[in-house]
Amino acid sequence: MARGARPKIDPALDLAPYLKTVEGLQGVFDPCAQLGRVAPVEIEIGSGKGLFLTRIARTCPDRLFVGVEIAKSYAALIAGRLAKAQATNALIFQGDGVRFADEHIAPNSVDAFHVYFPDPWWKKKHRKRRVLNERLLRAIERNLKPGGRLHFWTDVQEYFETTLELIAEVTRLEGPLEVAESSPEHDLDYRTHFERRSRLSGLPVYRSEFICRELSEPATPPPVE
Ligand SMILES: C[S@@+](CC[C@H](N)C(=O)[O-])C[C@H]1O[C@@H](n2cnc3c(N)ncnc32)[C@H](O)[C@@H]1O
Repeated sequence: MARGARPKIDPALDLAPYLKTVEGLQGVFDPCAQLGRVAPVEIEIGSGKGLFLTRIARTCPDRLFVGVEIAKSYAALIAGRLAKAQATNALIFQGDGVRFADEHIAPNSVDAFHVYFPDPWWKKKHRKRRVLNERLLRAIERNLKPGGRLHFWTDVQEYFETTLELIAEVTRLEGPLEVAESSPEHDLDYRTHFERRSRLSGLPVYRSEFICRELSEPATPPPVE
């Protein structure tokens, strides 16, 4: 992700309640216990500058939101924004979102996963670094409640198509469901920073949504190596 000039974080803000690290986790993380109430849980992997996370936390106070962002500076920036807004229903983890979803989230406990404009890793030899890989997809399927949803948007057609193929191959998530394009009236009406950037540049945005149906049998385990 291109690093531009970033707003400074007010040093008077206490980031500790909002900023955690994946490294610091031991065992399963329970967002309801951490945030002190039982409510639907949504997780965003790769939150970037946090436009989606900070805004959705404000507009949906009855839901809990957890972001995971690998870049330390962005994670701190998001924590600063949540602290400034005195959010009581959201926090950000700095660290690897794949590991977070695979190792630290309980099965059947999440209402939605959001992955918006993941880094494309254009070169074929680098594609294995993509965040929406088999490990993350299997974790998403395992952790979603029946009726839970995966939202995946990108501006990279090849990433979109290969990921949709991978979802069909390794999960039983149902989709892609049709996602309507919004008509933003204001600069902040875009869902994420990258959606705004793409659409203002006239680039297409590929949107998908998948739903987890109640499965009668457990999902096929990954092959033993
Ligand atoms: C292209 S940006 C998109 C940011 C935001 N979702 C948006 O749409 O504006 C991708 C973000 O994913 C983060 N990222 C990359 N790999 C990650 C990983 N394994 N876990 C968590 N975040 C990751 C990057 O640091 C970057 O901020």
